[in-house]
Amino acid sequence: MPENWQAKVTELFKIETGEIYSDTTFRMLGIPEWHGNKLLVDTKLYPQPDSLMGVLWSKPIFDDRIRIVSLVLDVQAQNQNYGTEVLTELKSKAKSDGKHMIQLEVRKSNVKAQNFYSRHGLKIDKTINGYYSNEDGLLMIGEL
Ligand SMILES: CC(C)(COP(=O)(O)OP(=O)(O)OC[C@H]1O[C@@H](n2cnc3c(N)ncnc32)[C@H](O)[C@@H]1OP(=O)(O)O)[C@@H](O)C(=O)NCCC(=O)NCCS
Repeated sequence: MPENWQAKVTELFKIETGEIYSDTTFRMLGIPEWHGNKLLVDTKLYPQPDSLMGVLWSKPIFDDRIRIVSLVLDVQAQNQNYGTEVLTELKSKAKSDGKHMIQLEVRKSNVKAQNFYSRHGLKIDKTINGYYSNEDGLLMIGEL
């Protein structure tokens, strides 16, 4: 990813999830070098930062599972099956890596995303009080 895209990633996360990811957040959470990270790019606009239409950021955790840190699509790219494609591919690759579970956190109010993940086999495991600065989170877990 070109270096000047970080501000665009931060903007996309802020608009679509309400979360503010600073340089420190990116450093603290870490972006592992593995096949579970993907960018959706509008090739007509590449390499402008505005060509960035979506981000999947995930990481292996513990021995048996992966965590989606963030899956965000620009509003113009939503409901076109990109989310389904990238999640299906991630689950299949993680399974071939020997992982068995997938988990993520989602805002309690983000019913659209919860429905999307439910359709893909994840279930609400528990509420995480105060997970977000202004709202509780839900931990969703699924088998691969
Ligand atoms: C949640 C999110 C990742 C889902 O990805 P997506 O690409 O929009 O999801 P899909 O297109 O695969 O599926 C969404 C809907 O589009 C429908 N759809 C998919 N492809 C379609 C097509 N070709 N024609 C018509 N409808 C289609 C699906 O059936 C689904 O229907 P629903 O409205 O009943 O839910 C995405 O919407 C997003 O980034 N949202 C904002 C950020 C966010 O909330 N992220 C999650 C934080 S944890």
